[in-house]
Amino acid sequence: MPRIPRRRDEPDEAAGGEPQSELSSRGAADDSAAPYDSEGAQGAVAGGDEGVRDASQEEEARSNIRVTDEPDDGGARERAERREAREQRERDRQDDDEYKWHTGEQRPTGAPDAVEFVDVHKAFGRNRILRGLNLGLPEGKISMILGPSGTGKSVCIKHMVGLLYPDDGDVLVHGESVPNMQDDELFEMRKKFGVLFQDGALFGSMNVFDNTAFPLRQHTDKGEDEIGDIVMRRLKEVGLGDAGDKMPNELSGGMRKRAGFARALVLDPSIVLFDEPDSGLDPVRTALLGELIQEIHEEMMSDAEGSDHSPAFTIITHDIMTARRVAEHISVLWKGRIVESGPAEELFSSDNPFVRQFLSGDAQGPLGME
Ligand SMILES: Nc1ncnc2c1ncn2[C@@H]1O[C@H](COP(=O)(O)OP(=O)(O)OP(=O)(O)O)[C@@H](O)[C@H]1O
Ligand SMILES: [Mg+2]
Repeated sequence: MPRIPRRRDEPDEAAGGEPQSELSSRGAADDSAAPYDSEGAQGAVAGGDEGVRDASQEEEARSNIRVTDEPDDGGARERAERREAREQRERDRQDDDEYKWHTGEQRPTGAPDAVEFVDVHKAFGRNRILRGLNLGLPEGKISMILGPSGTGKSVCIKHMVGLLYPDDGDVLVHGESVPNMQDDELFEMRKKFGVLFQDGALFGSMNVFDNTAFPLRQHTDKGEDEIGDIVMRRLKEVGLGDAGDKMPNELSGGMRKRAGFARALVLDPSIVLFDEPDSGLDPVRTALLGELIQEIHEEMMSDAEGSDHSPAFTIITHDIMTARRVAEHISVLWKGRIVESGPAEELFSSDNPFVRQFLSGDAQGPLGME
């Protein structure tokens, strides 16, 4: 069956820049500005000495005018074509420049990929976000996706769980194409995931216990006793054993993150996604959260022994210290493609100027404020 990604998501045109191509609108302006000189056109096609033309020549000349229908617009068309070619060359040059640090090198990890992006393109209006993304997130490891703000990291997460669909290319979860899944397959596939979204996304009207129990009530037919055991075990693990009856607005930012973390784990997911779990936390809590993620990953690794898939954790963060402490695998994303990816220690010793700059948080280097 051909892979034709379905597009269920509605791009938000408002965020996507101007609706009309700059080139086409400018071209149209030029054409209308150029005077259409029918006399000149006739002259250009017929040419020659009017005095010696016979009727058939006259007819041929007229038909030429109709067939070619090319007014002499004072060279405006040619100028527009030349300008377009020049602009295309400039765009090509910029594209080459843009990707000059993208070696795209993917160093082998020795593990199968839990999630794979294959040549994925995604645009919102004219705002091209993913531009031929090839990315693998290996099983059994804690991976990090690092990259400048606005580069498409959260958009990637939404593609993994089928909240956004690629315009082109494919997203595979345990080898299955997400865009080609039927609704029931998608529903099943989502049970593999535990997601901590960037904005926390606790239900404001539910206490911490009910928030954490929500996926179990939604996705399983477990009884309340069993649900209670699982929820309390996860809440204790994240240090919220006593906070079950608190409402989200009674929690600190760090507690809310940990509650989101507990909720992400209750279905024993084999793929866990954390979108900036550390944003807004103080350095000590960030370090503690990093440790907690490592501990839980280890515990899930031993629980998963003998099963088909070992747990893949993916963390999106801007915190280089977290990356140094916690990451086993790193992918650096920029301009919709991977600059480099591979085992963390190899990325930290990369000689790619962009990767070096980004992983050391240096102001000097290829990345500017643009
Ligand atoms: N639904 C949408 N409609 C239109 N544009 C969108 C949509 N979702 C994301 N974008 C755009 O895609 C780009 C990438 O957004 P994304 O949230 O993935 O960035 P990010 O890498 O996660 O950044 P940050 O590090 O700041 O969280 C942004 O320009 C954003 O405005
Ligand atoms: Mg984001």
